[in-house]
Amino acid sequence: MKLKKYTILVADDEENVRSLLHEILEEEDYNVVEAQNGLEAVKAVNEKYPDCVLLDVRMPIMDGMEAFLKIRDIAPDLPVIFITAYGSSDIAIKAMKKGAYDYLTKPFDIDEIKIKIKKAIELKELSLSLTSSNFGKQYKQDEIIGDSPKMQEVYKSIGRVADSDATVLIRGESGTGKELVARAIYLHSNRRNKPFIAVNCAAIPENLLESELFGHEKGAFTDAVSKHIGKFEQAKDGTIFLDEIGDMSLPLQAKILRVLQEKTFERVGGHETLVSNARIIAATNRNLEKLVTEGKFREDLYYRLNVVTISIPPLRERKEDIPELVVYFISKYSRKYGKVVQGVSEEVMKIFMDYNWPGNVRELENAIARGVIITSVPLIMKEHLPPELLTRYKSEQHEEETTGKDSNTLNGNSSTHSEETGKIEPLPTVIARIEKDMIIKALKKCGGNKTKAAKILGISRKSLFNKIRDYKIDLDKIL
Ligand SMILES: Nc1ncnc2c1ncn2[C@@H]1O[C@H](COP(=O)(O)OP(=O)(O)OP(=O)(O)O)[C@@H](O)[C@H]1O
Ligand SMILES: [Mg+2]
Repeated sequence: MKLKKYTILVADDEENVRSLLHEILEEEDYNVVEAQNGLEAVKAVNEKYPDCVLLDVRMPIMDGMEAFLKIRDIAPDLPVIFITAYGSSDIAIKAMKKGAYDYLTKPFDIDEIKIKIKKAIELKELSLSLTSSNFGKQYKQDEIIGDSPKMQEVYKSIGRVADSDATVLIRGESGTGKELVARAIYLHSNRRNKPFIAVNCAAIPENLLESELFGHEKGAFTDAVSKHIGKFEQAKDGTIFLDEIGDMSLPLQAKILRVLQEKTFERVGGHETLVSNARIIAATNRNLEKLVTEGKFREDLYYRLNVVTISIPPLRERKEDIPELVVYFISKYSRKYGKVVQGVSEEVMKIFMDYNWPGNVRELENAIARGVIITSVPLIMKEHLPPELLTRYKSEQHEEETTGKDSNTLNGNSSTHSEETGKIEPLPTVIARIEKDMIIKALKKCGGNKTKAAKILGISRKSLFNKIRDYKIDLDKIL
């Protein structure tokens, strides 16, 4: 049942056009108000408060464009859809530039009319709910968004540790904003005018990471044709961010421990002992305690790092941050791609609030970036969301309905799912599922060694790394 009956104003000088639209719209359960020219249309906007206007371009007394400009002054959020004769697209373009919502060409496509009006009203409802919120607010680059109590705690911790030289360990699931927090600590520290150097320990092959961090001397190994200055030397007394530190090999962990304790290191193949005064910020999404018990992470390094820890809560535990993140990412990507997208439909917002967000803020950001690119209306609708997100959302809903039933299906091999049910699924969804399964199999086979897994999968290590991240494959769970 509809809670509210929406009113549509139809302004056209042709009687038969008005009555055709009247009939179609009434069938769709809208109230319909008619106007025969621009002047009447403006009057009707003032008196009848329509939720959407269909406005013919060519009308006597006052034409569509003039009426539109007046309507825009009276009700800036009221969506106006122009009705143009076939071939008069320059007028339509002019109208769109001046802020019309959309246009319809005669002869009408009835389904198109219905869809456009529905979307226009959704947008209007949305902009109403946004006027009181943060829409239009100017954001700084790299700003951390979210006012939930849990994020307030994170901000307090950043404030407490920023100015000290303390080593900080940032923990949180993939995509929660660990790198953003690391940068915020740096930007609020007294080292903000010195370098910030980030190293992703998981994305660089093990044998190259040591030289990446500490540098090497000429001839230190086969490919070392010249001397290389590592990140610690580059950072000088700035800040070095060791991302994904849980993926670092044991021998390298020992060297990091030494930098932390004695502030010294050597280049690979070098004998000179160098001093580092860099501040270290580390981050991981791995379960370090588990890695310690399994002997994969040094206990002493763990204790050394764990002195000051900032834990970023997963997005599903602070859903109240979602609406502002949505506004933030929409404004960011609209600007980036030069599009006028104003929000997400109510349906999408509901999905966003219900969804579990295994990929956290990054997953939300990617969904919105994609939506902004592919939408052709000023709104991101359900059909603009990534198919993988919708598939996961549906299976979450399904799980909720069937809780108590066998939960093995959750992590089981589901690639035969569609064969069993005979259901046709979108190809990208099926391909993604198979790809994910193969990656998990390869990683299991190689005991989590990404270089080896990438090799047997026939892809680069970097691409494997990105896929592990995008598919939210939790190495701790699969190994
Ligand atoms: N609170 C937030 N406000 C605005 N943007 C955010 C927020 N949290 C995360 N992001 C954005 O989400 C993306 C992922 O964040 P980031 O790279 O910091 O995550 P991460 O925790 O380091 O993830 P991973 O463990 O996968 O490396 C980035 O583009 C970041 O700018
Ligand atoms: Mg990161």
